[in-house]
Amino acid sequence: MSETTYTTLLTRTDGPVGIIQLNRPKQLNALNDTLMDELGAALRAFDADDAIACIVLTGSDKAFAAGADIAAMAQYTFADVYRTEYITRNWEALRHVRKPVIAAVAGYALGGGCEVAMMCDIIIAADSAKFGQPEVKIGVIPGAGGTQRLPRAVGKAKAMDLVLTGRMMDAAEAERAGLVSRVVPADKLMDEALATARAIAALPRLAVLAAKEALNRAFEAPLSEGLQFERRMFHAMFATADQKEGMAAFLEKRAPQFQGR
Ligand code: HXC
Repeated sequence: MSETTYTTLLTRTDGPVGIIQLNRPKQLNALNDTLMDELGAALRAFDADDAIACIVLTGSDKAFAAGADIAAMAQYTFADVYRTEYITRNWEALRHVRKPVIAAVAGYALGGGCEVAMMCDIIIAADSAKFGQPEVKIGVIPGAGGTQRLPRAVGKAKAMDLVLTGRMMDAAEAERAGLVSRVVPADKLMDEALATARAIAALPRLAVLAAKEALNRAFEAPLSEGLQFERRMFHAMFATADQKEGMAAFLEKRAPQFQGR
């Protein structure tokens, strides 16, 4: 992959893992249009790179992201944001990434920061993580999935509690509520996220892509359609070399050699 320099992100690779770090530390990684444009570009680059099998998205120790950039949007009028889709126009990139994306969250994940984390496939949280949708406190509401993905993740009761009060929940509460997959000590966050990403990267790639696609159907489609899609994707796996290899290796009691096809 060619080297790209971003102004609001740091990117690197670790074997088959692409790592994107949000990097506006003075503003607690507040998400402005430049950052969201660059995040989209970095995600698309890793998604298109055959050497990359899994992506980790992280922030700093203090903040994954403290939300959309309030300084950038404070003076906007309804006409500005509705006509031009300022703020919201470039927030869909994560949805279109086909490879698994792991959010490694330490510190604040608030407003748009919580929404970006929820767009990822797996959230691994440091014990320092704090999640919330505080938008009501500044006279707006969540604008990138907070009223939609949060209730799907934690249920109506907790989502209403969080969105209507704007309070934060700590990592332990977020894990109990089902928002995060795991909580680890803060100094182990990246080790855990990278180990998880490497474990996924070692698996048959087509099966991983298909599993992600099928699982996402659970949130988009009625059950009957989701089940049908899952069945067809299951059938499709029998066209892959890795299915032959995976099952043969199991039966022959040896380690599989996957080819990603
Ligand atoms: C712009 C921000 C910011 C934000 C923090 N900063 N959050 N700048 N947008 N969302 C800046 C502060 O202004 C400050 O800049 C510096 O980062 C450090 O923040 P402090 O407030 O001094 O730190 P602290 O006292 O530790 O408090 C941390 C905090 C607080 C609790 C996270 O910063 C906070 O409440 N931030 C706003 C959270 C929020 O309301 N998020 C939702 C935004 S709306 P200076 O220059 O003073 O050092 C949203 C909509 C999404 O996200 C829509 C998506 C389409």
